[in-house]
Amino acid sequence: ALERTLSIIKPDAVAKNVIGEIYSRFEKAGLKVVASKMKHLSKDEAEGFYAVHRERPFFAALVDFMSSGPVMIQALEGEGAVLKHRDLMGATNPKDAAPGTIRADFADSIDANAVHGSDSLENAAIEIAYFFPATDVYSR
Ligand code: CMP
Repeated sequence: ALERTLSIIKPDAVAKNVIGEIYSRFEKAGLKVVASKMKHLSKDEAEGFYAVHRERPFFAALVDFMSSGPVMIQALEGEGAVLKHRDLMGATNPKDAAPGTIRADFADSIDANAVHGSDSLENAAIEIAYFFPATDVYSR
């Protein structure tokens, strides 16, 4: 089915100057950028986005890292977009990421892991709405 997912290129990958390289992988896989913006998240914005992880031991480090520099945020649309995007990213920990995935190629650690992607269709809708009003998503 045609789906949308939320993708974030994290501060480490923005600093490495690989936004275009990562967008190219999305496009070659049939994922279309339907909304996009660069933003330096405040701590509050990062905390709100990752609220589901509030009780996890890595939460403070995650919020610090995600607000440490600008990120590139996009909504991607395509057939089976949620899983397709997760396949392109590879495993959360780059040590476990398959060769040729974004995290295998660009991530340095489980914290500085280059990209974020929604883990379900349900969360994708919540995450897209967190950053983009419906009028800023351009389908077709
Ligand atoms: P992300 O997909 O952005 O979702 C939450 C982030 O927390 C995850 O990528 C990792 O960068 C980070 N993180 C740090 N430690 C862990 C861990 N043990 N398990 C899952 N995510 C972690």
